Amino acid sequence: MKIYLAKHAGFCFGVKRAMDIATKLIGEDNVYSLGPLIHNPQVVEDLEMKGIKCVKELDEIPKGKVIIRAHGVPPQEIQQAKELRLDVVNAVCPYVKKVHNITKKLEEGGYQVIILGEKKHPEVIGIKGNSENAIVIEDLRDTKKLSNYKKIGLVSQTTQSKEKFGELIEELEKHTQELKVYNTICDATEQRQQSAVELAKKVDLMIVLGGYNSGNTRRLAELCSKETETVHVEKFSDLDKKVLAGKEEIGVTAGASTPDYLIKELLKELKSYRVG
Ligand code: F3S
Repeated sequence: MKIYLAKHAGFCFGVKRAMDIATKLIGEDNVYSLGPLIHNPQVVEDLEMKGIKCVKELDEIPKGKVIIRAHGVPPQEIQQAKELRLDVVNAVCPYVKKVHNITKKLEEGGYQVIILGEKKHPEVIGIKGNSENAIVIEDLRDTKKLSNYKKIGLVSQTTQSKEKFGELIEELEKHTQELKVYNTICDATEQRQQSAVELAKKVDLMIVLGGYNSGNTRRLAELCSKETETVHVEKFSDLDKKVLAGKEEIGVTAGASTPDYLIKELLKELKSYRVG
């Protein structure tokens, strides 16, 4: 059994940055993250053990520091944190911040903002908060249902796929006289998707490692499954070993919120695993 790791896999710049910011706060009292710092339950559990507590709502925090994670939040929540006299630690990925700024500018310029993204994903909720009436679309079907607007401005959740983003443009043109398109998919996402697909084309099985709650990991699995048999697991022990039977070449990739140690562990276990 030969095992290959995708050229780009695991922690992206924004996640690494958020982790570094959080790590520096370990040992201080009253440090909280608003929502899981990154979409990886193993990492979040580890941070909890080191004293960084994860809360769902700001009013669960009595006092102290609140880390705003890489995905960002709507501006109203930052305001609320300040009103609660919490010390805001900004770990928002600069690429996400850029989407917030574009969204604000489009709205000020009279554009109907359309966001390609997962309606319930925190990053999308954060982007949407920068506009009074932005509309989130998840796919071409949603796009077809849109009304017509004089001017439309399109942005994307940073972890969407380029193909999906491209598909929508032609349809959106039918709904407006003026379409402004900002491809806000970040480089790290594109690199991970491209190298995963390249590898998937060559192997009998792809293993995609990362949080089940991680949108970018789910998207990697979706793209790989178009090329070859694909499984998405959070750790090696989750893997149903039956899928390894008869496989000669196995590819591994990992989402942008998957830490190195979990990738190394999976590779090590796979290399020593003998199909019975
Ligand atoms: Fe930032 Fe892109 Fe990662 S937007 S958090 S570098 S996936």
